Amino acid sequence: MRLDYLTIFPDYLAPLQLSLPGKAVASGLLDVHVHDLRQWTHDRHRTVDDTPYGGGAGMVLKPEPFGEAFDDLFAGGGLEGATVVVTTPSGEPFTQELARELATRERLVFACGRYEGIDQRVLDHARTLIEVREVSIGDYVLNGGEVAALAITEAVVRLLPGFMGNAASLVEESHEGGLLEHPVYTKPASWRGHDVPPVLLSGDHGAIAAWRHEQAVRRTAERRPDLAHPSQVLDGVEVRLAQPADAPELFVLQRASWVSEQHDNPGLRVPALHETYDELVDWLARDHVLVARAGGRLVGAVRGSLADDGTTWHVGRLMVAPDLGGRGLGRRLLEAAEAAAPAGVAAYELFTGAGSARNQRIYKKAGYRHAGELEPGVVRMVKRAGRR
Ligand SMILES: C[S@@+](CC[C@H](N)C(=O)[O-])C[C@H]1O[C@@H](n2cnc3c(N)ncnc32)[C@H](O)[C@@H]1O
Repeated sequence: MRLDYLTIFPDYLAPLQLSLPGKAVASGLLDVHVHDLRQWTHDRHRTVDDTPYGGGAGMVLKPEPFGEAFDDLFAGGGLEGATVVVTTPSGEPFTQELARELATRERLVFACGRYEGIDQRVLDHARTLIEVREVSIGDYVLNGGEVAALAITEAVVRLLPGFMGNAASLVEESHEGGLLEHPVYTKPASWRGHDVPPVLLSGDHGAIAAWRHEQAVRRTAERRPDLAHPSQVLDGVEVRLAQPADAPELFVLQRASWVSEQHDNPGLRVPALHETYDELVDWLARDHVLVARAGGRLVGAVRGSLADDGTTWHVGRLMVAPDLGGRGLGRRLLEAAEAAAPAGVAAYELFTGAGSARNQRIYKKAGYRHAGELEPGVVRMVKRAGRR
């Protein structure tokens, strides 16, 4: 991969010669060129900046030196497979995914900003020739783009085949697979009263893998819930008996979960959308209610209660957070609600809107059959108890 850096502080990029990148340069894997932007100036003071049009504090990097730099760098062609990376706090966030994408390029040209940034026309013009990515390494402001360019470089080049001594170490890292990495330990097994988790000493590879995954899910949910992909959140889901303290979240989840039901059944009065908070608190205390939590968040619930005949277990208020639908959580809650039925129950029953085709499909798959209408627009479905 060829790497070019356009900067007014070439010395800032000296770390490129260190450690693994340095070795990769030596081995020919990386072809690194650091350019002093001032070589494309023509005045005595080698001026690269000027005052901003429209006024305001600070200076702006002039377009001409960058324009000429690009002319020179791309004079011999090679635009195919090349990307200009403009470091800027207003760019797209730099992520592991973007690092993987940039690692597929044959050439990266970093344009390092300073002062108030680079004249916008530099980017607009470059975009007519080549792919340009404006990239931010975080929601804070640095003095210049060199540190950002170094950070991006390091994350990208370590993904190049042959860069890392042990490619397997790339697979298990934070952000690969959307999770933060599990905690890591080395010898000794006991240090200053702190012991390595026993499972890691067990030699049971299956148990170790399961423990690491569970830790990674837990860490991600605790530290970076914004990263936790719904399917991973569900790995760490806990289904347990509801407590009074669940009521406020349950009330919100219920409202959110039944909006689509109303959409599918226009004109039908959907009780879950009209119930008061006090009514919810009443059935929470009275019925057998299970809630599902993942990463501390209430993501689902279901309610079971014995019908007046004493042999039918009524399953109701089966809800799953709308963003987590389609991942089997509803099925899991349904099974948990059925399993909670008291001995002597002969059948499970539930009600759903006649227009709720998706729900009915799910219930049929779970063994429920249509059993008429409770009232116009509301379907009753039943299943013999004990059937899976
Ligand atoms: C002082 S900053 C300019 C900030 C600019 N006035 C703004 O508010 O967006 C100077 C240069 O540092 C670099 N820089 C600062 N913070 C950065 C970040 N979070 N990510 C990437 N580059 C950054 C950019 O190259 C930028 O042009």
